[in-house]
Amino acid sequence: DWTPAAFIEEEIAAIRETVGSSRVIGALSGGVDSTVAAALVYRAIGEQLTCIFVDHGLLRKGEREQVTQLLQEHLGMKTILVDARERFLAKLAGVVDPEKKRKIIGHEFIRVFEEEAAHLGEFEFLLQGTIYPDVIESGTDTKGVVKSHHNVGGLPEDLKLRLLEPLRLLFKDQVRLVGEELGLPHEAVWRQPFPGPGLAVRVLGEVTEQKLLLAREADYILREEIRRAGLEQEIWQYYAALLPVRSVGMTGGERTYAHPIVLRAVTSKDAMTADCARLPLELLDQIAKRILNEVPGINRVLYDLTPKPPGTIEWE
Ligand code: XMP
Repeated sequence: DWTPAAFIEEEIAAIRETVGSSRVIGALSGGVDSTVAAALVYRAIGEQLTCIFVDHGLLRKGEREQVTQLLQEHLGMKTILVDARERFLAKLAGVVDPEKKRKIIGHEFIRVFEEEAAHLGEFEFLLQGTIYPDVIESGTDTKGVVKSHHNVGGLPEDLKLRLLEPLRLLFKDQVRLVGEELGLPHEAVWRQPFPGPGLAVRVLGEVTEQKLLLAREADYILREEIRRAGLEQEIWQYYAALLPVRSVGMTGGERTYAHPIVLRAVTSKDAMTADCARLPLELLDQIAKRILNEVPGINRVLYDLTPKPPGTIEWE
């Protein structure tokens, strides 16, 4: 039977064996997976691991601060923050296709790591927080590609670093148990999953700074209300996405022609299937009113009822 303690012990031995005396550079995205992967590898090889956190400008509100604090305060790990916001936005300009966005972000991520690593001396391994559902959905099995999750697909051909993916056979709930066993704080380990490409797949169509701002503010309100309602633990993922269409509305007697926000909240065990969360209508109403009041540029709020399948959790 699988236990987190046994997994950690075996994996630590395997990591030490694989890595030897080489140095590893940690690919942190801010999500649970990469955080747990880093904590595990840090436990195995300590200072041979250097962690880089890239702010690609596609993070949620407050996330950069939270992640930097978590790693430094709780793990005492070496962390290097790279502000690559402008670089990613420039690469994404004019790009509409979801898979193209993922590829661009994946490539750019690796490039940033490689460049940063070059400043920091010799590294042989790149740590990634890939987990089992990423492996399956990226088409390594017979199902074919659903979405190329950036930490599996989209790697440049000339990648100079070897990949270290200690979580690639685990499901999300196992990753969380491993995180807890490693002593990570409860909130960090039970935080909802967040995709590597971040808000780029939640701003549908072309990603611009202005659209990111709308999605980010709406998402913050949704998260705040879910937390106040005490529902964080019951919902697998919840977020706000910005739709690229515009519709007519009215604010203070003035006609508006603006974007809608769609709220997505799902229950799931492992992200392979999902169902729409039965949020109380009063809560949805409260969230919608706050978004409409507090986020100028949004004039309509929708709730997504689609299960997975046939929908996916993310809209792109
Ligand atoms: P979908 O949308 O395929 O998502 O139902 C399943 C789970 O994977 C997350 N997801 C991603 N994670 N890179 C990631 O690291 C990606 O490109 C990506 N796309 C989706 C999604 O948030 C959900 O948890």
